[in-house]
Amino acid sequence: MANSSKENASKSAVTAQKKTSGETAAKTSAQIRVMTLDDYEGVYKLWMSIHGFAIRSVDDSREGVEVFLKRNPTTSVVAVQDGKIVGAILCGHDGRRGCLYHVCVHEDYRMRGIGKAMVVFCMKALREEKINKVSLIAFTTNDIGNKFWHQIGWTKREDLNYYDFTLNEKNIIAYNK
Ligand SMILES: CC(C)(COP(=O)(O)OP(=O)(O)OC[C@H]1O[C@@H](n2cnc3c(N)ncnc32)[C@H](O)[C@@H]1OP(=O)(O)O)[C@@H](O)C(=O)NCCC(=O)NCCS
Repeated sequence: MANSSKENASKSAVTAQKKTSGETAAKTSAQIRVMTLDDYEGVYKLWMSIHGFAIRSVDDSREGVEVFLKRNPTTSVVAVQDGKIVGAILCGHDGRRGCLYHVCVHEDYRMRGIGKAMVVFCMKALREEKINKVSLIAFTTNDIGNKFWHQIGWTKREDLNYYDFTLNEKNIIAYNK
Protein backbone atom coordinates (compact mmCIF):
# COMPACT_ATOMS: atom_id res chain seq x y z
CA MET A 1 0.00 0.00 0.00
CA ALA A 2 2.80 2.42 0.89
CA ASN A 3 4.48 1.95 -2.50
CA SER A 4 1.30 2.37 -4.49
CA SER A 5 0.50 5.47 -2.45
CA LYS A 6 3.91 6.89 -3.34
CA GLU A 7 3.39 6.13 -7.04
CA ASN A 8 0.00 7.71 -6.78
CA ALA A 9 1.55 10.72 -5.11
CA SER A 10 3.99 11.45 -7.90
CA LYS A 11 1.40 10.71 -10.61
CA SER A 12 -1.07 12.97 -8.91
CA ALA A 13 1.13 16.05 -8.84
CA VAL A 14 -0.79 18.77 -10.57
CA THR A 15 -0.64 22.39 -11.42
CA ALA A 16 -4.28 23.30 -11.64
CA GLN A 17 -5.91 25.76 -13.99
CA LYS A 18 -8.07 28.67 -12.87
CA LYS A 19 -11.71 28.74 -13.95
CA THR A 20 -14.84 30.08 -12.37
CA SER A 21 -16.40 26.86 -11.06
CA GLY A 22 -16.06 26.07 -7.35
CA GLU A 23 -14.86 22.63 -8.42
CA THR A 24 -11.99 23.89 -10.52
CA ALA A 25 -8.75 24.64 -8.78
CA ALA A 26 -7.13 28.04 -8.89
CA LYS A 27 -3.76 28.35 -10.60
CA THR A 28 -0.92 27.78 -8.19
CA SER A 29 2.77 27.09 -8.54
CA ALA A 30 2.70 24.71 -5.56
CA GLN A 31 2.85 21.00 -6.24
CA ILE A 32 -0.44 19.46 -5.12
CA ARG A 33 -0.20 15.73 -4.43
CA VAL A 34 -1.53 12.87 -2.32
CA MET A 35 -0.41 12.88 1.32
CA THR A 36 1.50 9.84 2.56
CA LEU A 37 2.72 9.00 6.05
CA ASP A 38 6.20 10.16 5.02
CA ASP A 39 4.74 13.69 5.00
CA TYR A 40 3.71 13.50 8.66
CA GLU A 41 6.53 15.57 10.17
CA GLY A 42 6.10 18.36 7.62
CA VAL A 43 2.34 18.34 7.99
CA TYR A 44 2.54 18.39 11.80
CA LYS A 45 4.96 21.32 11.67
CA LEU A 46 2.50 23.15 9.43
CA TRP A 47 -0.44 22.38 11.75
CA MET A 48 1.50 23.78 14.71
CA SER A 49 2.03 27.05 12.81
CA ILE A 50 -1.69 27.65 12.24
CA HIS A 51 -3.12 30.07 14.85
CA GLY A 52 -6.13 28.70 16.68
CA PHE A 53 -5.87 25.22 15.20
CA ALA A 54 -7.23 22.43 17.43
CA ILE A 55 -4.73 19.57 17.59
CA ARG A 56 -5.89 16.25 19.06
CA SER A 57 -3.43 14.17 21.05
CA VAL A 58 -4.55 10.82 19.61
CA ASP A 59 -6.10 11.60 16.22
CA ASP A 60 -3.30 13.93 15.16
CA SER A 61 -0.41 11.78 16.40
CA ARG A 62 1.65 9.91 13.81
CA GLU A 63 -0.23 6.73 14.74
CA GLY A 64 -3.59 8.47 14.42
CA VAL A 65 -2.74 9.85 10.99
CA GLU A 66 -1.41 6.45 9.94
CA VAL A 67 -4.79 4.87 10.75
CA PHE A 68 -6.57 7.60 8.80
CA LEU A 69 -4.29 7.30 5.75
CA LYS A 70 -4.57 3.51 5.75
CA ARG A 71 -8.35 3.81 5.54
CA ASN A 72 -8.09 6.66 3.04
CA PRO A 73 -4.88 6.23 1.03
CA THR A 74 -5.72 8.38 -2.00
CA THR A 75 -7.79 11.32 -0.78
CA SER A 76 -5.64 13.43 1.56
CA VAL A 77 -3.42 16.06 0.06
CA VAL A 78 -0.36 18.22 0.60
CA ALA A 79 0.89 21.32 -1.20
CA VAL A 80 4.67 21.53 -1.57
CA GLN A 81 6.56 24.70 -2.39
CA ASP A 82 10.12 25.89 -1.73
CA GLY A 83 11.02 22.38 -0.58
CA LYS A 84 8.48 22.25 2.23
CA ILE A 85 4.88 21.38 2.94
CA VAL A 86 2.92 24.63 2.86
CA GLY A 87 -0.61 23.22 2.74
CA ALA A 88 -2.46 20.10 3.78
CA ILE A 89 -5.89 18.52 4.08
CA LEU A 90 -6.86 15.27 5.74
CA CYS A 91 -9.66 13.96 3.56
CA GLY A 92 -11.46 10.66 3.80
CA HIS A 93 -14.84 8.97 3.53
CA ASP A 94 -16.92 6.29 5.19
CA GLY A 95 -18.31 4.80 1.97
CA ARG A 96 -21.08 7.38 1.81
CA ARG A 97 -19.91 10.85 2.85
CA GLY A 98 -16.58 12.54 2.36
CA CYS A 99 -15.06 14.66 5.12
CA LEU A 100 -12.33 17.29 5.21
CA TYR A 101 -10.22 17.93 8.32
CA HIS A 102 -7.43 20.36 9.12
CA VAL A 103 -7.67 22.34 5.89
CA CYS A 104 -4.72 24.73 6.08
CA VAL A 105 -2.18 26.76 4.18
CA HIS A 106 0.91 28.31 5.78
CA GLU A 107 0.36 32.01 6.44
CA ASP A 108 3.18 33.03 4.07
CA TYR A 109 1.57 31.15 1.17
CA ARG A 110 -2.08 32.20 1.45
CA MET A 111 -4.22 33.91 -1.20
CA ARG A 112 -2.31 32.20 -4.03
CA GLY A 113 -4.91 29.55 -4.85
CA ILE A 114 -3.28 26.76 -2.85
CA GLY A 115 -6.24 26.16 -0.51
CA LYS A 116 -8.70 25.96 -3.35
CA ALA A 117 -6.43 23.74 -5.44
CA MET A 118 -6.13 21.29 -2.53
CA VAL A 119 -9.89 21.23 -1.95
CA VAL A 120 -10.54 20.56 -5.64
CA PHE A 121 -7.93 17.79 -5.55
CA CYS A 122 -9.78 16.16 -2.64
CA MET A 123 -13.14 16.52 -4.38
CA LYS A 124 -11.80 14.76 -7.48
CA ALA A 125 -10.25 12.00 -5.36
CA LEU A 126 -13.58 11.46 -3.56
CA ARG A 127 -15.45 11.31 -6.86
CA GLU A 128 -13.07 8.61 -8.00
CA GLU A 129 -14.13 6.70 -4.88
CA LYS A 130 -17.79 7.09 -5.98
CA ILE A 131 -18.54 9.49 -3.11
CA ASN A 132 -21.34 11.93 -3.89
CA LYS A 133 -21.20 14.41 -1.04
CA VAL A 134 -18.49 15.99 1.11
CA SER A 135 -18.72 18.11 4.24
CA LEU A 136 -16.60 19.78 6.88
CA ILE A 137 -16.92 21.65 10.13
CA ALA A 138 -15.91 25.30 10.42
CA PHE A 139 -16.13 27.10 13.74
CA THR A 140 -18.59 29.99 13.47
CA THR A 141 -15.85 32.27 14.83
CA ASN A 142 -13.41 31.31 12.05
CA ASP A 143 -13.84 34.32 9.77
CA ILE A 144 -10.98 33.37 7.44
CA GLY A 145 -12.23 29.80 7.03
CA ASN A 146 -15.87 30.79 6.55
CA LYS A 147 -14.98 33.45 3.96
CA PHE A 148 -12.88 30.90 2.09
CA TRP A 149 -15.67 28.26 1.93
CA HIS A 150 -18.16 30.88 0.82
CA GLN A 151 -15.78 32.20 -1.82
CA ILE A 152 -15.09 28.79 -3.34
CA GLY A 153 -18.79 28.03 -3.60
CA TRP A 154 -19.54 25.65 -0.74
CA THR A 155 -22.99 25.73 0.87
CA LYS A 156 -23.37 26.74 4.52
CA ARG A 157 -26.17 24.65 6.06
CA GLU A 158 -28.56 26.67 8.18
CA ASP A 159 -31.04 23.81 8.62
CA LEU A 160 -29.18 21.43 10.87
CA ASN A 161 -27.43 21.06 14.19
CA TYR A 162 -24.13 19.27 14.58
CA TYR A 163 -24.04 16.52 17.24
CA ASP A 164 -21.10 14.55 18.56
CA PHE A 165 -20.16 12.31 21.46
CA THR A 166 -16.66 11.77 22.84
CA LEU A 167 -15.65 8.09 22.75
CA ASN A 168 -12.10 8.49 24.11
CA GLU A 169 -11.36 11.03 26.83
CA LYS A 170 -7.62 10.60 26.16
CA ASN A 171 -7.99 12.31 22.79
CA ILE A 172 -7.23 15.70 24.31
CA ILE A 173 -7.56 18.88 22.26
CA ALA A 174 -4.94 21.62 22.47
CA TYR A 175 -5.48 24.92 20.70
CA ASN A 176 -2.53 26.62 19.03
CA LYS A 177 -1.88 30.21 20.13
C1 LIG B 1 -8.65 28.97 4.70
C2 LIG B 1 -7.30 28.77 4.02
C3 LIG B 1 -7.01 27.28 3.91
C4 LIG B 1 -7.39 29.39 2.60
O1 LIG B 1 -6.20 29.07 1.91
P1 LIG B 1 -5.67 29.99 0.72
O2 LIG B 1 -4.63 29.22 -0.01
O3 LIG B 1 -5.28 31.33 1.23
O4 LIG B 1 -6.98 30.16 -0.19
P2 LIG B 1 -7.00 30.42 -1.77
O5 LIG B 1 -5.87 31.34 -2.13
O6 LIG B 1 -7.08 29.14 -2.49
O7 LIG B 1 -8.35 31.22 -1.91
C5 LIG B 1 -9.48 30.72 -2.67
C6 LIG B 1 -10.50 31.82 -2.74
O8 LIG B 1 -10.91 32.17 -1.42
C7 LIG B 1 -10.64 33.55 -1.18
N1 LIG B 1 -10.17 33.70 0.19
C8 LIG B 1 -9.22 32.96 0.83
N2 LIG B 1 -9.04 33.43 2.07
C9 LIG B 1 -9.88 34.47 2.20
C10 LIG B 1 -10.14 35.39 3.25
N3 LIG B 1 -9.48 35.30 4.43
N4 LIG B 1 -11.06 36.35 3.05
C11 LIG B 1 -11.72 36.46 1.89
N5 LIG B 1 -11.51 35.62 0.83
C12 LIG B 1 -10.60 34.64 1.00
C13 LIG B 1 -9.56 33.94 -2.16
O9 LIG B 1 -9.60 35.30 -2.46
C14 LIG B 1 -9.92 33.09 -3.36
O10 LIG B 1 -10.98 33.70 -4.07
P3 LIG B 1 -11.00 33.66 -5.69
O11 LIG B 1 -11.03 32.21 -6.07
O12 LIG B 1 -12.23 34.41 -6.04
O13 LIG B 1 -9.72 34.33 -6.14
C15 LIG B 1 -6.15 29.48 4.80
O14 LIG B 1 -6.50 30.83 4.99
C16 LIG B 1 -5.88 28.88 6.15
O15 LIG B 1 -5.09 27.95 6.28
N6 LIG B 1 -6.53 29.41 7.21
C17 LIG B 1 -6.29 28.92 8.58
C18 LIG B 1 -6.88 27.56 8.81
C19 LIG B 1 -8.36 27.55 8.55
O16 LIG B 1 -9.10 28.40 9.03
N7 LIG B 1 -8.81 26.52 7.81
C20 LIG B 1 -10.21 26.34 7.51
C21 LIG B 1 -10.82 25.51 8.57
S1 LIG B 1 -12.58 25.37 8.34
